[in-house]
Amino acid sequence: MELKAILEQRRSIRLFRPDPLPPGTIEELLVAARLAPSGTNLQPWRFLAVVSEEKRQALTACTFNVNFIAQAPLTMVCCVDRSATGARPERLRELAAAGAFAGTDLEKIDLSEYRKNKSRDEAAELAYLNLNVAIAVQQMVLRGVDLGLGSCWVMLFSQAKVKEVLALPEDLFVTALVPFGYPAQDPPPRPRLDTKDIFFGEV
Ligand SMILES: Cc1cc2nc3c(=O)[nH]c(=O)nc-3n(C[C@H](O)[C@H](O)[C@H](O)COP(=O)(O)O)c2cc1C
Repeated sequence: MELKAILEQRRSIRLFRPDPLPPGTIEELLVAARLAPSGTNLQPWRFLAVVSEEKRQALTACTFNVNFIAQAPLTMVCCVDRSATGARPERLRELAAAGAFAGTDLEKIDLSEYRKNKSRDEAAELAYLNLNVAIAVQQMVLRGVDLGLGSCWVMLFSQAKVKEVLALPEDLFVTALVPFGYPAQDPPPRPRLDTKDIFFGEV
């Protein structure tokens, strides 16, 4: 499908058919996620696929009445790995070796000065990592549309409960839950601000 058609056809789907997903679907979604860009190529996204009836029910109980999580055959638990920042020097070395900075001033830049001035605020750091994960999640969502799947971002859940129910490691922070499945609804486009309301114009 053309990207424009995917962007136009995507909706948040909140009613799913119970049909199972074809083998390989999870892998297809992961491939789309891993191609996402990320700051210094940190790739801080981590995913857990919830598919069993038991875990789907348990996960639903961690949300605020998001019953369609139990309905969907798959829910991707989309997480930040907070320890990913520790691998920044390695990721930067890989990028340089791959020629990502070739021919630009970034080849010569000393990032230690920039880092010294950068706030080490934990909340800001998490927001930054979440931003990276969100890009990967949306790539999954769009690939899902390409595969005929509906999905919906869900953030109405208890962080502590999800971590407990799925026994997630300490370093993980759950960014979003995203149920995937064949849509049992065909909703019209949702309201959007006009482009003139979101654009300050050219300067
Ligand atoms: C970051 C984010 C969080 C969201 N959280 C929820 C949620 O917890 N529950 C829900 O039903 N929809 C959730 N949504 C879906 C939005 O309500 C939806 O994207 C918006 O109403 C526009 O509709 P559309 O996606 O069909 O275009 C979320 C979407 C995003 C991007």
